[in-house]
Amino acid sequence: MAEAATERPALPDAIDPREFDGAAFQRDPFPLYKRLRDHHPVFHDRFHNRWILSRYWDVDGAFQDNASYDRAVYRPDGPYEFGSTHVFGPNILEYGNSPQHRWLRNIVAGQFVGRRLQDFLPMVEQICDEVIATFKDVGEVELVNQFSSQVPIRVISNMLGLPRADEDTFVGWYQALIAGLGFGGEHLARGIQARNEMWAYLDPLIAVRSKAPGEDLLSRIVSAQLDGQRMSPDEVKGFVALLLAAGGDTTDKAIANMWYHMLYTRPDQFDDLRGNPALWDNVFTEMMRYDPVVHAQFRHTTREVVLHGKVIPERAGVILYLGAGNRDERVFKNPDRFDIHRTDLHMGRENRSGRYKDGLPGHLGFGIGQHFCMGYAMARQEAMIACSKLLDALPSPRPKFDAHPGINSPSIDSGGFRSPETLWLTFGAA
Ligand code: HEM
Repeated sequence: MAEAATERPALPDAIDPREFDGAAFQRDPFPLYKRLRDHHPVFHDRFHNRWILSRYWDVDGAFQDNASYDRAVYRPDGPYEFGSTHVFGPNILEYGNSPQHRWLRNIVAGQFVGRRLQDFLPMVEQICDEVIATFKDVGEVELVNQFSSQVPIRVISNMLGLPRADEDTFVGWYQALIAGLGFGGEHLARGIQARNEMWAYLDPLIAVRSKAPGEDLLSRIVSAQLDGQRMSPDEVKGFVALLLAAGGDTTDKAIANMWYHMLYTRPDQFDDLRGNPALWDNVFTEMMRYDPVVHAQFRHTTREVVLHGKVIPERAGVILYLGAGNRDERVFKNPDRFDIHRTDLHMGRENRSGRYKDGLPGHLGFGIGQHFCMGYAMARQEAMIACSKLLDALPSPRPKFDAHPGINSPSIDSGGFRSPETLWLTFGAA
């Protein structure tokens, strides 16, 4: 008689890679992050054909190590492919660590910091006021759809100097681009269609602004020169598409996450903000550590890497789980506690090196190193303005419902961007 097959008992700390695809992980990835950090700091996920790093200093180290890790789409037979079928079209993300990346970054990065950024802030305030005016007298608001997803996209299209009458068209394109990025199939087809429509719309604007530049961001981008060279029209359009996503889809989620944590995670600390709105700065920083909008970044190895006794081969795909690194108990005390008064986290503005004068570790939410977020200062300023304006305008804001399903990410394919789907507030006399 055949012997009944006995199932091999799972090792207590073993990780089944299918866990990464489950709803439980999307809702609450932190228990799995902890198992990764504690037992598999270099995890080979054979099911998805990738490697995973999850400890703070390993993620930091990989971000800083350009010789071993590259972001470009890797082609085993030669140079990196540029201008692929990516829904945004050719853009800086595809240049990897190449000199072209450095050139393109240097040409545009200055537009999002310092005086250039300051020039745009009155417009950010005005847009916040306009959006708040649409619900201020109603007594309740669904913050995600009525506010946070409205402001950043309108800000970025205004910065670019696109006609205000076309804002709704831009919102439509941007939503199709984002869905196309994450969900494939018909979403991808619609994303590419939106991209093509947007490009056709941008062509005449680029032609006009190249000849007669104004003060807007599009004019600055088309006329900026470095080493006697300008961006090509396709690079300009790819960059505009990326800006809509990078500048719109992330900052809107940051604003919603900040309010979610104040309303539901730490309502006691929400009270501190009423007397000191400057503390929104700390809310932003702690949100970017505790449960940042973006949890993962992808790299490919350009040579063999040995880490924690494991060998990651050349040309391997590697996920840097910055969301896991941010909860590393080797670096932060009580990492699972949201606390805007933390003393073991660099609370001020971020920088590309990730090293600060106060000697404290920073959050990893903007990445570090060569691809450190170009919009880091703008995202913070915009989120600060939006949150302060809202708190100013709404008397006694409070959650409309006692319970909330929490922050989630709709699909890991969407880049793992995390935020609440809806967030109802009520305000006025209780
Ligand atoms: C809270 C909001 C934001 C978050 C969480 C965020 C997150 C990130 C992260 C993690 C990276 C690093 C990518 C990597 O290492 O591969 C990145 C890069 C980038 N971000 Fe952001 N971002 C935000 C806002 C913005 C804004 C407002 C802009 C522009 C206006 C922007 C533009 C960019 C660009 C162009 C890059 C690519 C930089 C390069 O490759 O050199 N981001 N962002």
